[in-house]
Amino acid sequence: MEETPRLSASLHPASDELLISVRGLRKYFPIRGGVLSTHVGDVRAVDGISFDIHRGETVGLVGESGCGKTTAGRLLLRLIEPTGGQAFYLPPPDVAQRVDTIYRELRKLAASRNLPEEDGSALNAVAEAQPLLRELSSIADKYSLYRMRGRKLQELRGKLQIVFQDPFSSLSPRMLVRDIIAEPMAIHHLGTRRQRYERVAELLQAVGLNPDHLWRFPHEFSGGQRQRIGIARALALNPEFVVLDEPTSALDVSVQAQILNILLKLQREQNLAYLFISHHLNVIRAVSHRVVVMYLGKVAETAPTNELFDNPLHPYTQALLAAIPIPDPTVKRERIILSGDVPSPASPPSGCRFHTRCPMVMPICSKVEPPLIPVGNRKDHFVACHLYPETSNPAMGLFTSRENVVVIAPREPVGIPSESRPLSGAAASPDLPRGDNASGSRQGEWAQGNGPPPPLPSMDRTGSLPRTPMPKDPVSSTLGAPISPPSSPAEGNPLRPG
Ligand SMILES: Nc1ncnc2c1ncn2[C@@H]1O[C@H](COP(=O)(O)OP(=O)(O)OP(=O)(O)O)[C@@H](O)[C@H]1O
Ligand code: SF4
Ligand SMILES: [Mg+2]
Repeated sequence: MEETPRLSASLHPASDELLISVRGLRKYFPIRGGVLSTHVGDVRAVDGISFDIHRGETVGLVGESGCGKTTAGRLLLRLIEPTGGQAFYLPPPDVAQRVDTIYRELRKLAASRNLPEEDGSALNAVAEAQPLLRELSSIADKYSLYRMRGRKLQELRGKLQIVFQDPFSSLSPRMLVRDIIAEPMAIHHLGTRRQRYERVAELLQAVGLNPDHLWRFPHEFSGGQRQRIGIARALALNPEFVVLDEPTSALDVSVQAQILNILLKLQREQNLAYLFISHHLNVIRAVSHRVVVMYLGKVAETAPTNELFDNPLHPYTQALLAAIPIPDPTVKRERIILSGDVPSPASPPSGCRFHTRCPMVMPICSKVEPPLIPVGNRKDHFVACHLYPETSNPAMGLFTSRENVVVIAPREPVGIPSESRPLSGAAASPDLPRGDNASGSRQGEWAQGNGPPPPLPSMDRTGSLPRTPMPKDPVSSTLGAPISPPSSPAEGNPLRPG
């Protein structure tokens, strides 16, 4: 069993300030075929995801291999450009609310005319949509990550950083550690050479390395030390947001704990926001304020961490959580075995993408895609599943797609395939698929288990409330130009945090 690292640091409260607001973000990778290498289809790696990241908050991103986690992280850093949708950087609260209102109106319009939601260009021909599209476009001009150009974009790149899973391949083997960490500062022309090296020494200390290490090459370090170097490099430009793409999965459990403690300490000191991608659900639980569960390019469920773990609603989330080993060998729990493989993102199933494997599948599921809606009386727990119809929750008003959906079958399960029925106790074995894609991550860690993990530390979680996520972006084709610059570097030594 994958042991859970024991953490001494605790999670500090996140602020209410919205840092990045993702709305309907999509990334399709083209598939080419034939002698002329023509476009024959798309891999829908990320297909309309929506969530918020607040300053100082850790958002945990989980899901099976190939569901689009790394692609989502790369989109937020602008390492790749989106096919559609938006990510707004530091939108003021009134602007963020207005964006959601506009999306709601546009979605209503699209639904009332039976226009495909995924093709925003169809709305360009609708007269009533024009003022809304213009307003959204002018908001995007100011706040969209994807409209930044030139100097503004370069400044933004310093604010958004990444730590990769494999600390060895992400560090140049020919460079001294001193130069590896100083390189981002040199690229951004920050400070004198001497100031840069002073900052490198500070960063090394912050991640628990010492000045002797400045003169070594990456191959002269252990895996854990290399990951510390990767973190120091990511922090060199005083970022606001760091994507942590499985930052500890290549490390043994004691080193994992050290790295996680460092990340929590740095977050507390510098009010960093993290997108923490991991397969290890106990780690996600320990370090995240909020969790986003992805399945095949879509958000299946998102909620504050405690709420998600205590009250998982989506059948996919329930299957993931049911596969976490229980620390007490005398306790038996029903495990949910998912049948079949993860479908290809190049030809995802119709309706709910999970319907080919869902133990609760209903006739409507293969025909109508469930929107991501808030459930019950909470405004911070969202689920995309037909099992949860609209309620009296006032926040529900933001989601209109079902207003125009004809319910074609009663919402009852039509039967659970025998191989996917919940099984109990020792006879059950989690059977979550293990992928082996280009990113080379280790799969199914949550599904392994033959011994109890140590208990999780007590947390100080605020569970900051996300704004209401919106479904797919109907107006992506209308978006695309620069936004206002991020704040200027601190005075004095420009390399030190302000
Ligand atoms: N550059 C690319 N060109 C074509 N397809 C890609 C590219 N990058 C990713 N994909 C595909 O997009 C899908 C999502 O990939 P991604 O790496 O985001 O998944 P992931 O959730 O991070 O998986 P893992 O947990 O294994 O790291 C996969 O099907 C992958 O093969
Ligand atoms: S919408 Fe249907 S298939 Fe999808 S998760 Fe819910 S019950 Fe299962
Ligand atoms: Mg990945």
